[in-house]
Amino acid sequence: MKATTVWFTLVTIALTITACRRTTPAKEAPAGPPAEATSSLYKRLGGYDAIAAVTDDFLSRMLGDPKMAAYFENVDEKGKQRVRQMIVDQLCAATGGPCVYVGADMPTAHKDLHISEAAFTVAAQYLAQSLDKFTVPQKEKDELLGIVASTKNDIVNK
Ligand code: HEM
Repeated sequence: MKATTVWFTLVTIALTITACRRTTPAKEAPAGPPAEATSSLYKRLGGYDAIAAVTDDFLSRMLGDPKMAAYFENVDEKGKQRVRQMIVDQLCAATGGPCVYVGADMPTAHKDLHISEAAFTVAAQYLAQSLDKFTVPQKEKDELLGIVASTKNDIVNK
């Protein structure tokens, strides 16, 4: 074998080794938090359709309970449809979803309804039951119920 061929071969091997080293990361990238810990509550709940399904179930529990339905006695069918859409939009927006809530603020929406703390607690329990029905995991359930609980002082007015 000629000396130039030997040199050419050695230089090629050396360059290949250098190139391989450069492309091999020194360390594995740090794992970081799992994707579900960083994505919005909206996404973790399953998005718009999941929130709409939970809201429908929640409202049917509310309206199926004569004590709670009594609060809606002056709200006609169109009004109930509006409440349903407003709750979906509100939950979607509050959990980081792409919705814009255009409804009344909570004190205005519930003024004159004389909602007691006990009635609010019943509503929160119905919402919890709806989240259970759709097997929403405990973490997401707690987060959503926490958001709703934070509106209590704006809704209770008795
Ligand atoms: C649990 C938390 C609650 C949330 C997140 C919530 C949310 C809402 C929203 C978004 C609206 C519609 C506002 C609008 O039309 O612009 C609404 C209306 C209404 N809510 Fe609630 N609400 C809650 C609790 C309650 C409770 C505990 C009661 C009764 C016991 C109640 C009774 C009503 C009624 C009757 C309306 C219709 C008012 C009307 O159209 O004149 N809500 N609520």
